Amino acid sequence: MEIFNIVKDNKRSLREKSTPIEDTSDKKLETTLLDMIDYLKNSQNPEWAEKNKVRAGVGLAAPQIGINKDMLAIYFKDEDGTEHQYGFMNPRIISESVKLAYLEGGEGCLSVDSEHPGYVYRNYKVTFRAYNILTKKVEERSFLGYEAIVFQHEYDHLKGILFYDHIDKKDPFRKNNDAIAI
Ligand code: NI
Repeated sequence: MEIFNIVKDNKRSLREKSTPIEDTSDKKLETTLLDMIDYLKNSQNPEWAEKNKVRAGVGLAAPQIGINKDMLAIYFKDEDGTEHQYGFMNPRIISESVKLAYLEGGEGCLSVDSEHPGYVYRNYKVTFRAYNILTKKVEERSFLGYEAIVFQHEYDHLKGILFYDHIDKKDPFRKNNDAIAI
């Protein structure tokens, strides 16, 4: 089981744009992406996380482990225990809702150790086209609410964007009454 060294936000590479993956059947990238999902899953086990000194995370993008390629992983369980796990190569947003949503508690990031309070408004619904490592197919998938926010956060990493870039500097908790609080 791989313990990744997480690239922090003081590193330039985290601000660079990632490049598309030419060969989605590349075995090394495939293994890395599956390891990224496992890493997230393990990070949510408090004993494992403490032992290995890692923070719990629900999403991870390849630039965060030092690979500036278009690849991201998601893993979380919802209240009824349903697992949401994805490993995407070359994700692209093909449509998004006008409706916005935000996390009331704000966002966090494994690459960001300092506090950045404030709301990050994102699209409530988003549809991606991507190569899904778990099905080995190019798929279109739509996500809503919390899941859509997590995906957009990770997708931003592929553009060199961090969550706090979206926070209003003058008024971090600016209210948008049309946005759904999650
Ligand atoms: Ni992040």
